[in-house]
Amino acid sequence: MGKAFDKYIERQNLLDVQYDENYYEKQHKRGKLTARERIMMLFDEGSFEEIDAFVPSAGGTTFGKSSKAFGDGVIVGFGTINGRQAYAYAQDFNIMGGSLGSVHAAKITKIQDMALKTGLPVIALIDSGGARIQEGVSSLNGYANIFRRNVLASGVVPQISAIMGPAAGGAVYSPALTDFIFMTEATSYMFVTGPDVVRQVLNESVTPDQLGGAKVHTSKSGVANFVYSDDVNLILGIKKLLSYLPSNNIENPPFVPNDDPTDRVEPALRDIVPEDPDKPYDVRDVIKLVVDKGRLFEVSENYAQNLVVGFARLGGYVVGVVANQPKVMAGSLDIDSSVKGARFINFCDSFNIPIITFEDVPGFLPGTDQEHQGIIRNGAKLLYAYTRATVPKITVILRKSYGGAYIVMNSKGIGGDYSFAWPTAEVAVMGPEGAIAILYRKELAEAEDPVALKRELVAKYRDEVANPYIADEKGFIDEVIDPADTRVKICRLLKSLDKKSVSLPRRKHGNTPL
Ligand code: HXC
Repeated sequence: MGKAFDKYIERQNLLDVQYDENYYEKQHKRGKLTARERIMMLFDEGSFEEIDAFVPSAGGTTFGKSSKAFGDGVIVGFGTINGRQAYAYAQDFNIMGGSLGSVHAAKITKIQDMALKTGLPVIALIDSGGARIQEGVSSLNGYANIFRRNVLASGVVPQISAIMGPAAGGAVYSPALTDFIFMTEATSYMFVTGPDVVRQVLNESVTPDQLGGAKVHTSKSGVANFVYSDDVNLILGIKKLLSYLPSNNIENPPFVPNDDPTDRVEPALRDIVPEDPDKPYDVRDVIKLVVDKGRLFEVSENYAQNLVVGFARLGGYVVGVVANQPKVMAGSLDIDSSVKGARFINFCDSFNIPIITFEDVPGFLPGTDQEHQGIIRNGAKLLYAYTRATVPKITVILRKSYGGAYIVMNSKGIGGDYSFAWPTAEVAVMGPEGAIAILYRKELAEAEDPVALKRELVAKYRDEVANPYIADEKGFIDEVIDPADTRVKICRLLKSLDKKSVSLPRRKHGNTPL
């Protein structure tokens, strides 16, 4: 090919000048991998195809003082992750702080468009100071273009964001529009306005970590779902999550057979729920004895811990697990857990993942704090999500199922496909203490020994009303089962529900409670 080929080689070599030793060292000193290293770790060896590596920045190339920068601070492309195709982009903090200029944005939207056309996931590795200041409104328009595509792709292809450095200003809103957010423990932070602005406007002094570090976002704000110690472990976490997800909303999630028998009877399940109805236990112990190989991949593990949500497999099929956690706030539903559950259910429903609910909930959390913050509209999110979901939906009532919480947690009335109950289940309009206080107010006030009378009435209520057999006889529960058979029953049901198909009324979209 002669001269033409020489020119091609000369141009390729320019990339190596950009990625010299200094380039790697700068980022490693910050405790982070470079954008290139991250991409190489994420994709199967040799599979990554980079696009637009040579496009210059809109305002001329700028890299340090004298070198040329190609690619405008972001690496974009496609390849395979554990053998499955995906698109990804990685922002390069070494180039203008990973800030987003118009060319940078156009590269991202190019792969977003390709991912939508081809039905493939998009993974965003974010390390950015936000909108590039020197490009002005062009950078803002760049973000707008990305956000629009995030919204269009929502529920069509999985979108995963990893915060691997700063995510400041506009850099936070694309992740917020995607399905899952990962963060690294010590090197990532997310905020709309940084500590300097907070100081100027509010005269408050706060560190980046206090304002928007991984701990804050995975346990307090609920903005992020996963936290990992460093870049390497975070990338392994993304790969694990992907192993549970289909590539798009038309495919089913990956079926991975394993040697855990679907007819495994598990007598240990009979001994987990304590006889004393007020004693806590860890619902994860139940989940792990039911699912394949005891493996549960929790989502938002540190946030709203009164509800456990996550992915698992049953007979090789991926399922989404939603479970009240009696160990935390007695498993009651509050604003945060309602929102956490609703979002997870919406994701599962979008991507054909059946939902298995383990229920032990005394009710919604009472109090002025919850009422004033809107437990009504927030609790409605969970109710709406369960009701709208058309994937197979199975409930196992382990113990308490009272009042509104009975309805919300996938009751048959709102469209649950099957409800099982363990013999320990208590299903009623309200808990025994509350019910007796209302029904027998007068008698208790006049009783010689009101404590003894209450104890007697509570025991009677529990025995005669708050049991699973009335609901079973009325068909609101399909079967009261031996806890040991829970896995066998769910695996059989999942098979029978495999071809479930539901048509909803035509509409543009519902008006989700917000
Ligand atoms: C252009 C930027 C930049 C930006 C950082 N840099 N942010 N360049 N536009 N937004 C450049 C710096 O000038 C510097 O260049 C290099 O990146 C590294 O930045 P440092 O400040 O030296 O690094 P560090 O101390 O680690 O601080 C990182 C940072 C800080 C916290 C991200 O740079 C910062 O606060 N940046 C601005 C963040 C911000 O307010 N963004 C909001 C933009 S407005 P040199 O050449 O010195 O290496 C926005 C609105 C959109 O995004 C809203 C949409 C909803």
